[in-house]
Amino acid sequence: MGIFLDSASVSEARRAMALGWVGGITTNPTLMARAEGDPATIIRRLGEVSPGPVFYQVTGSSLAAREDEGRRFHALDPDKVVLKIPASTENMALVVRLSPEVPCALTAVYSGAQAWVGCEAGARYVIPYVSRATRLQGDGLGLVTEIAQVLDACESEAEMLAASIKTPEEAIATLLAGARHLTLPLELILRLADHPLSEAAVAEFNRAGRD
Ligand code: E4P
Repeated sequence: MGIFLDSASVSEARRAMALGWVGGITTNPTLMARAEGDPATIIRRLGEVSPGPVFYQVTGSSLAAREDEGRRFHALDPDKVVLKIPASTENMALVVRLSPEVPCALTAVYSGAQAWVGCEAGARYVIPYVSRATRLQGDGLGLVTEIAQVLDACESEAEMLAASIKTPEEAIATLLAGARHLTLPLELILRLADHPLSEAAVAEFNRAGRD
């Protein structure tokens, strides 16, 4: 499924899943801190709402702590929970230890090299931060294209799930640059299928129908 909700809010998740074309949920520590309840309860409740993957980002202060945390959260809903593991040399060992029985997403990816190592380590998803990359290193869409080429070149099963998307235009440009999935905030998801010219056309048809 190509469109994910980026939120830890169960009420937002319910609204997004009611649309019928949102396939999963990504969270991150900032979103979790804003949500009500403890992280484990939030992930369980999101799993009850989502038809597809629910991504949880590990935050433990050591590799061992992140591995233990990751296994605990995956056990909450083994069919849905995917662990988001921030890209670093140390964390690549965590991806190796957990994969394949615990699906891992390499997140906060800002280079093709990180994506390549993530594939070799067994990551199921690679998550570049597009808008942040444009703001911080100049070309987020170029990063998406580079990662798409890396995933092709290393013949990996890994899929790109692009994050940090701020507008419908940036979403489409990211898709066309090679992302397989995008994770978007609810307010952006709710804007995707509307267009003022479509509304104007409907108003015109309605007027014609009344004349
Ligand atoms: C996805 O879950 C990412 O953590 C999130 O999109 C980070 O990027 P942003 O804070 O710029 O949206």
